[in-house]
Amino acid sequence: MRFLNPASKILIVLTVIFSSIGCKKSQTQISEMTADSAVIKIGEVGSMTGPQATFGTSTNQGIKLAVQEINAAGGVKGKKIELISLDDQSKPEEAATAVTKLITQDKVIAILGEVASSVSLAMAPIAQSNKTPMISPSSTNPKVTEQGDYIFRTCFIDPFQGTVMARFAVDTLKAKKVAILRDIKSDYSVGLANFFAETFKKSGGEIVMDQSYSQGDIDFKAQLTSIRSKNPDAIFVPGYYNEVGLIARQAKEFGIKAPLLGGDGWDSPKLLEIGGNAFEGSYFSNHYSSEDQSSVVQNFIAKFKQAYGSIPDGLSAAGYDAAKILADAMNRAPSLEKAAIRDAIAATKDYNAVTGKISIDSNRNAVKSAVVLKITGGTFKYQTTINP
Ligand code: PHE
Repeated sequence: MRFLNPASKILIVLTVIFSSIGCKKSQTQISEMTADSAVIKIGEVGSMTGPQATFGTSTNQGIKLAVQEINAAGGVKGKKIELISLDDQSKPEEAATAVTKLITQDKVIAILGEVASSVSLAMAPIAQSNKTPMISPSSTNPKVTEQGDYIFRTCFIDPFQGTVMARFAVDTLKAKKVAILRDIKSDYSVGLANFFAETFKKSGGEIVMDQSYSQGDIDFKAQLTSIRSKNPDAIFVPGYYNEVGLIARQAKEFGIKAPLLGGDGWDSPKLLEIGGNAFEGSYFSNHYSSEDQSSVVQNFIAKFKQAYGSIPDGLSAAGYDAAKILADAMNRAPSLEKAAIRDAIAATKDYNAVTGKISIDSNRNAVKSAVVLKITGGTFKYQTTINP
């Protein structure tokens, strides 16, 4: 192009760009027309990057494994599932944009996601107003499914999870004085802290200190100084792995010996990478334990290992279950209309999932058990299962 004047060069470039856009557009239009009848489009919104990246990537691995299995077995009503997964960068605003795109442009008939309750809360009103079924595999804050009758979850809720850890603190650890350190930027953390405190106090315990931080903080020394002055038997830290990892390290540097207690937000391979042996002797509640010897759990682990070469965390298990339950509901539904799928999800009963037997209640939440894991020797060791 050296012999052309600059204006002609620009013209050539623009022509190439426009003709390729035109081409792309007609291609997608054709594929949409044919695809609509041949495949079932399902959307997924997850934190594949950003501060909660392990939540999104683990969930995505579980969902993809489930979809592969469903398709290999012939799909749903004779159609293959096409999964469209979008990254929200761990941001509620991005998740809202993603869910809008999935519904209006991609024309998905159901949505899986999100993990973090604050992010699911940004998605749910959009799914609801478009009458598109949404299933969160792992958002535990009660408000998520309160957004409307198209919003479901296949995990337990935090009033239960908070009770699990409060009872464990009282009954097993014999704790009488507990301090709380909560993330005030997270609906999940604030809710779980409140539900824990409620049950712990009802059981005769005392909350001797209630401190807070904001997601993204890296220095917790001021809060830990106040907590240390009260000499609690345990510290409840219902946050996500990044901050909790740093809190554990700084607590240890401060000479705090009390065990830390947490919830499912601790479940990440990064937790121990960040916190190291500062977590020794701490406990958290979760959705599943890889030590569970039941065949449904061990089959899942074997298939997951074969696909990805690692042991699945609770998020992968929860993602897998949510996708399987959606497919089960679509199979049972009289048609693939979104309203029919919604009704079929609502009717889910005693589904034998990896994370436990799942029945959807009248509030569109799953009623199921939780496990308590102990961190010891750099692993998450199964302690007990607590039924609702
Ligand atoms: N329950 C958390 C929330 O609602 C999300 C989460 C689930 C994180 C499971 C880790 C593991 O925000």
